[in-house]
Amino acid sequence: MPITIPTLKEGPVVLRAIRLRDARPLERALLENRSWLRQWEATSPHAPMNFDTRASIRSLLANARAGHGLPFIIEYEGKLAGQLNVSSIAYGSLSSATIGYWVAEEFAGRNVTPTAVALATDYCFYQLGLHRMEICIRPENEPSLRVVEKLGFRYEGLRRRYIHINGDWRDHFCFGLVSEELTQGVLRRWVDGGVPPDATVITPEDRAAAAHPLPIQRNL
Ligand SMILES: CC(C)(COP(=O)(O)OP(=O)(O)OC[C@H]1O[C@@H](n2cnc3c(N)ncnc32)[C@H](O)[C@@H]1OP(=O)(O)O)[C@@H](O)C(=O)NCCC(=O)NCCS
Repeated sequence: MPITIPTLKEGPVVLRAIRLRDARPLERALLENRSWLRQWEATSPHAPMNFDTRASIRSLLANARAGHGLPFIIEYEGKLAGQLNVSSIAYGSLSSATIGYWVAEEFAGRNVTPTAVALATDYCFYQLGLHRMEICIRPENEPSLRVVEKLGFRYEGLRRRYIHINGDWRDHFCFGLVSEELTQGVLRRWVDGGVPPDATVITPEDRAAAAHPLPIQRNL
């Protein structure tokens, strides 16, 4: 089921479909923010890092055409600020998706990402009819943990060596929201100050476990 990629807006933050002519400005932003992004960047265990931005955009758009993703550019006051991808969209008895994001360092700390995540989540719940949204974050990524905390994504647990990031399998804390947890949408709930204060609390056991790498027999 191909999906229309909408344009979503709240104040100075706009989410819009990525397009091939974003390749150059996107590449510039990615290169200028190399040291800011590298630590959190998804990598492949089987291939070197791909810096072909046009090919990446084509692949994101093909995935969207197949109904599995919503690849957004995040704009702030009309400038390209970052990306938000809704991926792994599943329908039927799962009806869920995952969200990933980044913003350039110059746009950090202005609530751009929580606004973008709230807009995308509300779209997935109320327009696509999805039931559950997930965000997984490395334990060390305090700024990203603040994003889910602001929006009240519920802490669901530690996944050991879950995603290949910056050249190795990394532990992740996972957070989820199901649509029936909300009465007024993620954005409205946040703006109205209605986010439950303890939703995102990570258990001390998981914090302690994440501080020690999982023993491995061999590095693949
Ligand atoms: C994580 C990230 C997306 C947050 O986006 P954002 O739009 O800055 O989100 P917020 O404005 O809500 O800021 C979140 C926290 O970042 C921290 N922060 C703010 N400005 C910052 C800066 N210049 N540098 C580092 N951290 C900063 C603050 O702790 C802030 O929390 P606060 O608002 O309670 O003070 C962004 O830091 C980023 O793109 N980082 C690199 C890529 C990445 O980590 N992607 C996510 C992988 S899961």
